[in-house]
Amino acid sequence: MNDISVQPISGALGAEISGVDLSRDLSNEQFNAVHQAFLDHQVIFFRDQKISHDQHKAFARRFGTLNIHPYVKGMDGHPEIMQIVKEPADKVNFGGGWHTDMSFLEEPALGSLLYAKEVPSVGGDTLWANQYLAYDTLSSGMKEMLGRLKAIHTAKGEYSERGHSAQKRGSMDVAVAGDDVPSYEHPVVRTHPETGRKALYVNMAFTEKFAGMTRRESLPLLKFLFEHCTQEGFTCRFRWTAGTLAFWDNRCTQHFALNDYQGKRRHMERVTVNGDKPF
Ligand SMILES: [Fe+2]
Repeated sequence: MNDISVQPISGALGAEISGVDLSRDLSNEQFNAVHQAFLDHQVIFFRDQKISHDQHKAFARRFGTLNIHPYVKGMDGHPEIMQIVKEPADKVNFGGGWHTDMSFLEEPALGSLLYAKEVPSVGGDTLWANQYLAYDTLSSGMKEMLGRLKAIHTAKGEYSERGHSAQKRGSMDVAVAGDDVPSYEHPVVRTHPETGRKALYVNMAFTEKFAGMTRRESLPLLKFLFEHCTQEGFTCRFRWTAGTLAFWDNRCTQHFALNDYQGKRRHMERVTVNGDKPF
């Protein structure tokens, strides 16, 4: 029997799923319903879940192999689980700017599964932006031009000594990326391997410049795209409760973790599913 229900949370993307207990193995029918909701809504939320580390990983593994983050140290005994913590004394949060996870890899992450352990009573929401919509709303001339471009992605800025993510070393074990950190070229417009839809694929955190151009030459158009791709009408905003698991598709979304809960603690656990080379 399939008693899964799917409630969209905004006009642009995002849906809450109920009728699923992630601490149990999903039947194929349940898995197919969840998978379809994931493709249809790009980010899905399961509230009131009680899952162990192994159950978190087991659910993620149904979508692919698990990633071990090159800079953020995983948990002892569970290297695939990243603890994302902001202590009351911390000023900087992790993920506090628009980005898509791991676009600095040759094969960027398919998706991320973030499980809320402890959240402030108010604040600490996350926003997502639909990158299919970002592409679809461009003019035909811009689509055509961007369709021919590739961009260089690197962790150089974000994970360097002064980078935003590397500043999280207070309560998280984040390594500093050296000068030898690799760069990879990805198409500016990528085709989603499962839905066949086109999505804009540049992000402020990891996209350095267009391939074959200087950063200075790239910046005016990149700035336009960074603003365009996260405009209000493409977004949803989710208010967390402890025990919620969010699963988003990094191939067609960006997200932003708000840092508006100074003096309070927030503790999340992330498992990341490996993806394939964008085309
Ligand atoms: Fe992120």
